[in-house]
Amino acid sequence: MTLWQGRLGEGMAEEVAEFTVSIGFDRVLAADDLAGSRAHVKGLAKVGILSDEEMATLLAALDQVEAELVSGSFELAPGDEDVHTAVERRVTELAGEVGEKLHTGRSRNDQVATDLRLWCRRSLVAVAVEVVVLQETLLQRAREAGEAYLPGYTHLQRAQPVLLAHHLLAHGWALSRDVDRLLATVERLNVSPLGAGALAGSSLPLDPDFVAEELGFLARFENSLDAVSDRDFVAEALFDLALLGIHLSRIGEEVVLWSSEEFGFCVIGDAYATGSSMLPQKKNPDVAELARGKTGRLVGHLTGLLVTLKGLPLAYNRDLQEDKEPLIDAVGQVTLALRALRGLLATIQWNQERMQSAADSAGAAAVDLAELLVERGTPFRRAHALVGGLVRDSLERHVPLAELVAAHPDLGDEAAALLEPGVAVTRRTTPGGAGPAAVAEQLERFTRRLGVDRSRLELHGAPGQAAGAAEAGTPGPGPTAEPGTGS
Ligand code: ARG
Repeated sequence: MTLWQGRLGEGMAEEVAEFTVSIGFDRVLAADDLAGSRAHVKGLAKVGILSDEEMATLLAALDQVEAELVSGSFELAPGDEDVHTAVERRVTELAGEVGEKLHTGRSRNDQVATDLRLWCRRSLVAVAVEVVVLQETLLQRAREAGEAYLPGYTHLQRAQPVLLAHHLLAHGWALSRDVDRLLATVERLNVSPLGAGALAGSSLPLDPDFVAEELGFLARFENSLDAVSDRDFVAEALFDLALLGIHLSRIGEEVVLWSSEEFGFCVIGDAYATGSSMLPQKKNPDVAELARGKTGRLVGHLTGLLVTLKGLPLAYNRDLQEDKEPLIDAVGQVTLALRALRGLLATIQWNQERMQSAADSAGAAAVDLAELLVERGTPFRRAHALVGGLVRDSLERHVPLAELVAAHPDLGDEAAALLEPGVAVTRRTTPGGAGPAAVAEQLERFTRRLGVDRSRLELHGAPGQAAGAAEAGTPGPGPTAEPGTGS
């Protein structure tokens, strides 16, 4: 049975059903669909379209549907083309005739937009919680890293030594911007489309402000056409997730490089590595590689949705059903990547000797020599040329740079001391720089920032302990019907 049996005589052709049905993926919206229906029912009762008794019957049926979804006893019927159809069909079975009043004044167009905003709101907050958990691991590893240092690179050529803590926190700060972006998207999407109907509102005295408030939205839609056709929030969410994925892929790429024999900067914990089916000696960084590799599909999801939206006339078009799979997949994949990378980084072992010997290569302090000359009154460009000449000399004549520096009339022993292992990194003293004093301050600033972000997430309904939230149910496949909408 279809929802439009009055208008179209014949049932749906088999291949049409196969092509158009969305229940296979939109069932993850079940909890949000129930929340939306509860608000709608209360709204209908508030304006007198439903009696209090009818409202109670419908709410009880919705509770029953929720119980069936949670227990797994909810059974799909042949006509259940999407989650909205399935829930309405079951409510009607349970509530009898009054079930036929559930959809009064509502269309699946405002319904699906409402559901997806609710799902997006709680899912993006849940992703942000996972990001903070990963940041806490980076912070912890940065604190433990103490004085350890490694080469900082530009062009993947050794440039200047940096503290390992500084390098780890660089990724941490990028993730802070991801948290910011996710929360900004949540704030912007927090507008209710419910009451827009199919496209134009209703002749019935609905109260969109009331249902918006019931669902914890900050406001209701301003324009019904916009309300049912706007998927900006999905595009924004996909961008936020793609950029977050790109940050994870950059971390992954460094783990791949650093764990190679060529670098030898770290050893991946056995539980976070994989072996080879053929080569007995292999230990492979597959988690890091997939953190890098999955990013391709995240970017693809964003691109795909933008193309879907481009050129769509107002208002609802079935094309919009294509918003869900990329969004659900992106949230799921990013969540998995965040958790796996967190474990990888929590258990990775640093090889500080390898890092330090790479960082102590002769040229690492070259700019410090030039800056010493600057302090003694030489213009920088001349100092740069002088030191550059010594480096070339040292390489061409195979004489240690320190020897040449010590013998040079403008430099001498004090300058040569700058080339001692471990000295250069201590010379990065400016705020936000890579040396110990600046990094100690940065660690405090980062700790404070995580505290602030945790509080912001709590305001958005995240559990107080971010670490515990890893278990708190990230949207995955299946008919999830977590109670509450996490407004
Ligand atoms: N499954 C549909 C979607 O996800 C629900 C809305 C259907 N509306 C319609 N007019 N056919 O977009």
